[in-house]
Amino acid sequence: MQVIQQIEQLKQVVRDAKRQGKTVGLVPTMGYLHEGHLTLMRRARQEQGLVIATLFVNPLQFGPQEDYADYPRDLARDCELAESTGIDVLFAPAVDEMYPAGNGKTLTFVDVEKITASLCGASRPGHFRGVATVVTKLFNIAEADVAYFGQKDAQQVAVIRRMAEDLNMNVKIVAVPIVRESDGLAMSSRNKYLDSAQRQAALVLSRSLERAATLLAAGERDSSLIVATVRDLISQEPLAEIDYVSLVDPLTMEALDRVESRALLALAVKFGKTRLIDNMLWEGK
Ligand code: PAJ
Repeated sequence: MQVIQQIEQLKQVVRDAKRQGKTVGLVPTMGYLHEGHLTLMRRARQEQGLVIATLFVNPLQFGPQEDYADYPRDLARDCELAESTGIDVLFAPAVDEMYPAGNGKTLTFVDVEKITASLCGASRPGHFRGVATVVTKLFNIAEADVAYFGQKDAQQVAVIRRMAEDLNMNVKIVAVPIVRESDGLAMSSRNKYLDSAQRQAALVLSRSLERAATLLAAGERDSSLIVATVRDLISQEPLAEIDYVSLVDPLTMEALDRVESRALLALAVKFGKTRLIDNMLWEGK
């Protein structure tokens, strides 16, 4: 596996691979890799000729009060983990390489409207603008044919899909199911922030999503009742502070009154300073 930090060097590797007729699979990450990220890389490895994972903590997608400076970083560990998946390239540019004008400074942004207005977009103004902008840059640099994203960040998937469609990008977006710890907690680089009491308390998230799935499977279709049940369960956990619980259309992220076919139950909950997200996609039955 090659570790590349320069954009020009990566472009050269991509040109060579494309000349050989290889497809390019891209897995964007912010590092501090866990099994969720590695699952995306393995999937890309199975399906594509040249596989590039990117590791870049993107300042543009963090709010001023958020954890950009504290975001966990461990390049040596990430290199070992990424290499174990058999990918070809780990692209780990410095901030100046991606934003030559300075820390997250750029004159050009990609804004996806409406889909970004609710849920995490409402709690984190500017977040998806930062995500869409950096992901566009990565798509262009890597000339990605297929890009892999986790369903863990369901709104991010919807935003990227819509962006690629609206801007006629030559990239196919693949969403990979959420990878969980054996006790149900969705894997996240931010789980590292939790102390042991919070880690235990955070299990309420997957438990409450399961309860909602049980209600849906039993035929419940009233969105407010399902949301209220989930909110009640989470509220019983004293360490949990709800940011949002919402049943939405998985493509538009608009709230649903009734669950007709596909629906996404998405939630964000804080444990101390740590904000965790989780969700459940209901495919309808
Ligand atoms: P990051 O949080 O590092 O996540 C990188 C990718 O891994 C995302 O597509 C995310 O959805 C996926 N992922 C994280 N946890 C997962 C889990 N438990 N199961 C499955 N997939 C999981 O998301 C970002 O970085 C950034 O916003 C990025 C797209 C890289 C742009 O900066």
